[in-house]
Amino acid sequence: MIYFDNNATTPIDERVLEAMLPFMKNMYGNPSSVHRLGRIAKSAVEVAREQVAALVDALPSQVIFTSGGTEANNLAVNSAFGRVAQSAIEHPSVSEPAKRFIPEIITVNRDGLIEPKTISELIEKRPDFVSIMLANNETGVIQPIADIATQLTERGIIIHTDAVQAVGKIPVSFKQLGVQMLSLSGHKIYAPKGSGALIVDKTVLLSPLFLGGGQEQNYRSGTENVAAIVGFGKAAELAKAELDARQTRMLSLRTMLENKLAQFSKVTIFAQTAPRLPNTVLFGIDGVDGELVLLKLDQKGVCVSSGSACASGETEPSHVLLAMGISTQQAQTAIRVSLSHQNTPAEVLEFIELITPFGD
Ligand SMILES: Cc1ncc(COP(=O)(O)O)c(C=O)c1O
Repeated sequence: MIYFDNNATTPIDERVLEAMLPFMKNMYGNPSSVHRLGRIAKSAVEVAREQVAALVDALPSQVIFTSGGTEANNLAVNSAFGRVAQSAIEHPSVSEPAKRFIPEIITVNRDGLIEPKTISELIEKRPDFVSIMLANNETGVIQPIADIATQLTERGIIIHTDAVQAVGKIPVSFKQLGVQMLSLSGHKIYAPKGSGALIVDKTVLLSPLFLGGGQEQNYRSGTENVAAIVGFGKAAELAKAELDARQTRMLSLRTMLENKLAQFSKVTIFAQTAPRLPNTVLFGIDGVDGELVLLKLDQKGVCVSSGSACASGETEPSHVLLAMGISTQQAQTAIRVSLSHQNTPAEVLEFIELITPFGD
């Protein structure tokens, strides 16, 4: 099998699983318990907090563990107030909860990027809370969040960024980005599903989604998912230590894939000239339905996505491509390859061979 769908989810790293197992077996204490087993669990959660904080250059006290990226985004948007704005390409876990604010939509250009003049126009509309993702899950396009955050924060505007896809693929510094909130998800970085965090600057007041026992500084009540948090922490530690090597590996595979794709006259790589994640290639073959290619590849044991995983199964074209001004017809051709450092050049070559009948 060839797994090229790492933006949808990643396999659990063996070392992450090893770290988790004791907490699924004999170290089953509740971190709120005062006895020995409770203390062991509590200190494991605190180690994970430090590991996650270190990955994104934040303070451990700024980490609020959640059940994943969706909850982190919901917690951030639930804390919004006044006039709200979001980019046109946000993940539904931002855009759906934001609907109740009837948000201002921040447009992107044909490369999937937000232009400086769009931010100037936004500022004139005096928003109170803005959510813009750091890297897009479909195109991999990276927004200039640090520049945008500087302009917004100096006017007292709160900015949240969804860094779920960026983290582990490019360096992410909460401090340098200058945002007030940043969302993370464990299962995109080789940790288990159901782990994640919202990193939050303590000058901002959060409105919790869950009320109860007051865990996570009162921002996320509920007994901690200790094993998942431990796994997330270990995955964060590994992602930090191996970031350079992983980036280099992913970029060399991506370059190889894109060079091969360039040989097909009918292939378009979307947002190719924009700054992008080193692992993501969103492309289309003229006149060929992306969903059809996906199904044919699946029969050959190759896992890719057509647009975002959450959108597959729907026949709707990607809202991200439409926001970039791509026609509905061309958007229907989109196929997303999202690589991992665990992939190999041989897999890229096999993939190219398999799509050749469509591309030629
Ligand atoms: C950009 C982005 N944000 C948020 C999420 C949701 O994260 P989770 O699956 O951990 O809820 C995803 C997952 O696909 C994503 O790609």
